[in-house]
Amino acid sequence: MASVTDIESVLKEKRVFPCDPAFAARAHVKSADEYEALYRRSTEDPGAFWAEVGRELSWFEEPIRTLEWNCPDAKWFVGGKLNVSSNCLDRHLTTVRRNQAAIIWEGEPGDTRVLTYQMLHSEVCRFAAALKRIGVHKGDRVAIYLPMIPEAAIAMLACARLGATHSVVFGGFSAEALRDRINDAQARFVITADGGWRRGAVVALKDAVDEAVEETPSVERVVVVKRTGTPVKMNRRRDLWWDELVAGVPAACEAEPVDSEHPLFILYTSGTTGKPKGVVHSTAGYLAHVQVTTKLVFDLKDEDIYWCTADIGWVTGHSYVVYGPLANGATTLMYEGAPNQPQPDRFWEIIERYKVNVLYTAPTAIRTFTRWGDEWPQKHDLSSLRLLGTVGEPINPEAWTWYRRVIGGNRCPIVDTWWQTETGGILISPLPGAVPAKPGSCTKPFPGIVPEVVNRDGKPAATNDGGYLVIKQPWPGMLRTVWGDHARFVKEYWSQVPGMYFTGDGARRDEDGYFWVMGRIDDVVNVSGHRLGTMEIESALVSHACVTEAAVVGRPDEIKGEALAAFVTLAAGTRADDALRKELREHVGKEIGAFAKPDDIRFTEALPKTRSGKIMRRLLRDLAAGKESVGDTTTLEDFSVLAKLREEDE
Ligand code: PRX
Repeated sequence: MASVTDIESVLKEKRVFPCDPAFAARAHVKSADEYEALYRRSTEDPGAFWAEVGRELSWFEEPIRTLEWNCPDAKWFVGGKLNVSSNCLDRHLTTVRRNQAAIIWEGEPGDTRVLTYQMLHSEVCRFAAALKRIGVHKGDRVAIYLPMIPEAAIAMLACARLGATHSVVFGGFSAEALRDRINDAQARFVITADGGWRRGAVVALKDAVDEAVEETPSVERVVVVKRTGTPVKMNRRRDLWWDELVAGVPAACEAEPVDSEHPLFILYTSGTTGKPKGVVHSTAGYLAHVQVTTKLVFDLKDEDIYWCTADIGWVTGHSYVVYGPLANGATTLMYEGAPNQPQPDRFWEIIERYKVNVLYTAPTAIRTFTRWGDEWPQKHDLSSLRLLGTVGEPINPEAWTWYRRVIGGNRCPIVDTWWQTETGGILISPLPGAVPAKPGSCTKPFPGIVPEVVNRDGKPAATNDGGYLVIKQPWPGMLRTVWGDHARFVKEYWSQVPGMYFTGDGARRDEDGYFWVMGRIDDVVNVSGHRLGTMEIESALVSHACVTEAAVVGRPDEIKGEALAAFVTLAAGTRADDALRKELREHVGKEIGAFAKPDDIRFTEALPKTRSGKIMRRLLRDLAAGKESVGDTTTLEDFSVLAKLREEDE
């Protein structure tokens, strides 16, 4: 792990953008004073604050206690019984929301679907009833490997309705990665499609499933959505078409009351060591957290069309495409494809056509848009937008300013939201009518959340000094465990700074109490907002017959945030050439997924190591970034290795 002194903020951003008075006047939280009072109240008596949030949910049985905290094990809304799908659907059916659009969907080829709350409810009930018929029970794990189509949300909600725990696997993951996730969770069912559209081509999801399930003994049934019409092999004993499965099934399925702490979903994310971890989220705490953050951070209004561009395969898709918006009865827009299909103005065209009000996207996308040029957004009327959001990595002030000016017409506030797969929902973010923005800062904590920047010994860092970002009090959306490995949960999140949740991010807090997150302090890289453990890519490389050792580090990249640089040593007699580079990249693509392919591969005779055999990643990072290494190298085992790598760099 890098030392705290490595975490230096290079940002010298001093601008402050005050809240727009007209926006603030209509906002849920209307002023800095109101925010401060709410924050104070929420931290002085967190139980009372979260209990109030919990009362906004619809319960079969009310909880008897808000929190049971036995660090690091939390139980929220103890004794309560509820169901997430009835919170997202049924409770809206007795209100005017019944006939409002729940999901507005657009496929990449331009086909569209609109599902009102009533229609979505029917689809979810029908599919849940069909799943029940094929043996899906409360407590089962169901893997979902789908493109961004309404069936993805329907499948998640149907699982929730039955009390089955879903594990959504991003469609960009390879068959191998899917197999490992299915096996880890011991999923009995897989829901997939004959394909999905991406940049005009079909993503062959069913082929990947066929390959994966050859080595997943737990899988009994595979349900396949017809999306692209691409011919796929159907195994008669195992595979079922979605449309045939639901044909004739009545749209009736009571929501199963589950315990507050019942696991709603598992979502795999990368860690520093070992295989990906299955982050487990609960039912009531998770739902309460995403419901209140969606409402206050995006300042939802009844008439809004809200668009979060994340894929359902990532936590942002879970919390802010599906559960948060639907729990609030909002209209959530889903788009299947790429932002430059058929042209680089697809997002702006969608915003103009549907008159989108709130846009939530990632810094990497924003940087890509700046590259494509202002002419694309300028072709479109974006005046419906009233609020913009970002998530996934630190946003550089240039991209922030561009987003505000070109997309937001200098009119829309920007909410830079900091959170993680593990946190379930947003923890640090401005409330747009109450907290003035500073470009590049995620600003202040959400009510009820107590972050701190600390040194290694857990003492608070001085103002503007870099340190570890920790969370000092439990919050409802926090992960409950790592699936099948509670010890890992305790070790990775609760043991680094005892008694506090360790985020793995470096940060500083400025004189106004604003947080500036500077990125990961461990060997996790953030490529285009996708979190990757360098160790996973190293294992993939080493599994190739020609590779003996590999070290992967991140290097700064203007568009992706970080790019992947691999240093590879080869088995004797192997030819180090471009053909092998290409082969290794393909190999990583096959093992993990195309987004994990290293950007650079450098062959080297040996890797620089300390006397105890640890790879000196800091040196490699500096080399990859083209910086001269200034660190202490006296523990280097073999100086010639470093000299050699440097030479090659020249
Ligand atoms: O390093 C932080 C960065 O993304 C990490 C979490 O990644 P993941 O679990 O994949 O979830 C991404 C979507 C929630 C964090 O540890 N990160 C996320 N949001 C921000 C951020 N870094 C700076 N500013 C943000 N707003």
